[in-house]
Amino acid sequence: MKNVLLIVTGSIAAYKAADLAHGFRKAGFNVNVIMTRNAAFFINPITFETLTGNKCVMDTFDRDFDFEVEHISLAKAADLCMVAPASADIIGKIANGIADDMASTTIMAVKCPKLIAPAMNTAMYENPIVQDNMKKLKSYGYEIIEPARGLLACGDEGKGKLPPVEELIECGLRHIGHIKDMAGKRVLITAGPTAERIDPVRFITNHSSGKMGYALADAAADRGAYVTLVSGRTALKAPLGVDRVDVFSASEMAEEVFKRQKDTDIFIFAAAVADFRPAEISKSKIKKKDGETPVIHLERTVDILETVGLKRTEKQYICGFAMETEDLIENAAKKLKKKNADMICANSLRDEGAGFISDTNRITLIKKDGNRELPFLSKRELSDLIFDEIVSDISQRTGVSS
Ligand SMILES: Cc1cc2nc3c(=O)[nH]c(=O)nc-3n(C[C@H](O)[C@H](O)[C@H](O)COP(=O)(O)O)c2cc1C
Repeated sequence: MKNVLLIVTGSIAAYKAADLAHGFRKAGFNVNVIMTRNAAFFINPITFETLTGNKCVMDTFDRDFDFEVEHISLAKAADLCMVAPASADIIGKIANGIADDMASTTIMAVKCPKLIAPAMNTAMYENPIVQDNMKKLKSYGYEIIEPARGLLACGDEGKGKLPPVEELIECGLRHIGHIKDMAGKRVLITAGPTAERIDPVRFITNHSSGKMGYALADAAADRGAYVTLVSGRTALKAPLGVDRVDVFSASEMAEEVFKRQKDTDIFIFAAAVADFRPAEISKSKIKKKDGETPVIHLERTVDILETVGLKRTEKQYICGFAMETEDLIENAAKKLKKKNADMICANSLRDEGAGFISDTNRITLIKKDGNRELPFLSKRELSDLIFDEIVSDISQRTGVSS
């Protein structure tokens, strides 16, 4: 079992650390909590002891220990160290090498990934000294988790809130929750619908929610990849650590993809890109006229998958998606060949709980060496199975097992 070392300091947000400790525990980690003496004004160590099943440590010179020097043994055992909430004080201490209590001394000895989640009043957070200290910590490899904006406990409005506990856990999982078998890989994923303008107020689009592409982006980021998500209009939030580029139309999506063609190792084309667009976009709103029904002439949009496939290198990996109402597998196999892709994920519009809006999907992987039907699962779970296949294909090509 992996160990999370949670360090809680004297911020009003300290009460949220109880949920954080509980969340890491629920996610399957052993959690040790160290509190500063000032944190104990905000929350009682017994809360953490009950939630984690481990002693909550505060005192460097506590003589009630079983084995090694406690700050060193906790530091050595940790697979991840998160300071949340991190006071301006602890940030200043770490940045300046001060180790005068259990929390700051242990951080000094920790070698695993260190994540700092500042939480404080906006004026404190914006203070150039605090900002400089955070810059310094970043330069030493500490990860600073950006605080959220909102109404602060002191009544001020601005940046400085501890982000929601789920986000903090997600940040932690990025480091220890998943095998990093895609570390360093540059992955470009398209997601969501494109929309084609008719006039300044109207456009043609489709039902894509973007959920499949966003789930893939989340999975790739969890496995250590650098992910660029070129996204059409969706209501979804970009997964943490993913670089999202918003686009509207198929041609904008194509432009953003082509720009990155050379610098991408793996392409996943999960967006529902329009095949046709109005041949002309009216500059003014098309008016209703008595007895007249306007006709919109359509023209083909650029085929992003095919264009990338034409210019691809041997090393690049291309995975497309196919969604059909008829002859899905046959059409997906044709698409694989025609577009020079490595894999097509065929998803049927006919299956219940699969396709556009749902959180689940049914996918068949189509490759040159055969087809493989994946189980009916959530889009997030399927994303991992898709990347398992991609990682295994890439390692077979290079002869390197991951
Ligand atoms: C009611 C109250 C709320 C506080 N909230 C914060 C806070 O959110 N962030 C912060 O950096 N300091 C906050 N402070 C100030 C710190 O508790 C103070 O700087 C303390 O020395 C930090 O100690 P520590 O870093 O050892 O925990 C607060 C103080 C009080 C009295």
